[in-house]
Amino acid sequence: MNLFRLDNKVAIIPGAAGAIGSATAKLLFEQGAQLLLADVSFEKVSDLAHSLDSKVLALKADFSLVSDCQAAVETATKHFGRLDILINNVGVCPRIPFSGFH
Ligand SMILES: NC(=O)c1ccc[n+]([C@@H]2O[C@H](COP(=O)([O-])OP(=O)(O)OC[C@H]3O[C@@H](n4cnc5c(N)ncnc54)[C@H](O)[C@@H]3O)[C@@H](O)[C@H]2O)c1
Repeated sequence: MNLFRLDNKVAIIPGAAGAIGSATAKLLFEQGAQLLLADVSFEKVSDLAHSLDSKVLALKADFSLVSDCQAAVETATKHFGRLDILINNVGVCPRIPFSGFH
């Protein structure tokens, strides 16, 4: 499918090792974007980056920390020279038993 092109666009995908993040990484890569894939799990995000292309960057980053968010932006802009897209994919969705609500 070729709905749009993202050639020369640079994207950061936090939580890239997860279900939505990895699917988004593959889609954006296929559309030509250059990617910085970030996750608290470096091993998983590194495997994903290698499976896509040697130019895809992997970074260990905890996006609940401002310092790690800043480091991801700095890494992307330094390495690729620009930054165009943030996939806002990391959030908190605790699963609490219904009986846990008061
Ligand atoms: N899957 C769904 O149906 C659904 C629906 C609505 C919202 N969401 C939200 O979308 C986001 C992604 O969902 P998913 O299904 O891909 O989840 P997932 O559990 O498959 O992946 C989440 C990824 O985020 C990483 N991660 C967790 N905390 C992090 C942090 N602080 N910094 C960086 N990386 C971190 C994990 O290591 C994991 O690789 C979540 O915020 C989820 O709550 C998902």
